[in-house]
Amino acid sequence: MEGLNLIGTQPFETKRCKLRPFKLSDAQYIYKNWAGNENVVKYLTWNAHKNLDESTAYCVKMIKESSTLSNFHWIIELSEINEPIGDISVLKTDTDKREVHLGFVLGEQWWNKGIMTEVLEAVLAYLVFVIGFDKIIAEHISENKASGKVMQKCGMRMSGTNTLILKDKGNVEVPLDEYCITKQEWFAKNIRV
Ligand SMILES: CC(C)(COP(=O)(O)OP(=O)(O)OC[C@H]1O[C@@H](n2cnc3c(N)ncnc32)[C@H](O)[C@@H]1OP(=O)(O)O)[C@@H](O)C(=O)NCCC(=O)NCCS
Repeated sequence: MEGLNLIGTQPFETKRCKLRPFKLSDAQYIYKNWAGNENVVKYLTWNAHKNLDESTAYCVKMIKESSTLSNFHWIIELSEINEPIGDISVLKTDTDKREVHLGFVLGEQWWNKGIMTEVLEAVLAYLVFVIGFDKIIAEHISENKASGKVMQKCGMRMSGTNTLILKDKGNVEVPLDEYCITKQEWFAKNIRV
C-alpha cells in the first residue's frame, strides 16, 4: 500500500465522542449497549450476541486484529457518560485500488441524535486526509434508510445497487444500496483554498 500513511487505529475526538481502539473492559458495554439488542442487528449481517461471553470473544478478536497498522476499527465512546455506545470500522481494503469499505453500528438509545453523522464525518477525514485512501465505500441493506441518510449527510453519493445473502440469517437474499466518496470529492467538500 505504497504512499499510504498506515498508522492504524489512532485515538481522536469528535464534539461528543472519543474514538479509540478496543480494550477488554469494553465487552460488557458492547453486549449491553448494542450487540445484545435484536433491533440493532435487524439490518446487519450478524445475529445479536446471546450473552456476555459472545461479546467478550468478539472484543478479544478485535483487540488481536488491531495490532496491525492496516487495521482501522474504533470504539465510539460517548464523552458525556464515558461508555462505549458503538463502533465503526474498515471492513475490507482493496490495496490495488486504494479503496476501503466501512461499517458502523450504534446502540438504539442513541439513535437519531446525529451521533453517527458526526463520527462518520470524522472517520472519512481520517481515512482520506490522514491515511490517504482514494475512495471510501459503504453499503447498507436498502430497507435501512437511516444508514443511507447518514452516508448522504456525510457527502457520500449513491454509486450502485447490489444483493447480499445473509448467511447467518437463513440465507435470505437482500438488496443493498452502495454509497461512496472519492478523495477528490472529499477535498472539494471539505478543503477551501
Ligand atoms: C444507522 C445508524 C448508524 C444511524 O445512526 P444515528 O446516529 O442514529 O444517525 P444520525 O442521527 O446521524 O442520522 C440518522 C438520519 O436518518 C433518519 N432516519 C432515521 N430513521 C429513518 C427511517 N426509518 N427512514 C428514513 N430516515 C430515517 C433520521 O431522521 C436522520 O436524518 P436527519 O438528520 O435528516 O433527521 C443507527 O441507526 C444504527 O446503528 N443502526 C443499527 C446498525 C446499522 O444499521 N448500521 C448500519 C449498517 S449499514
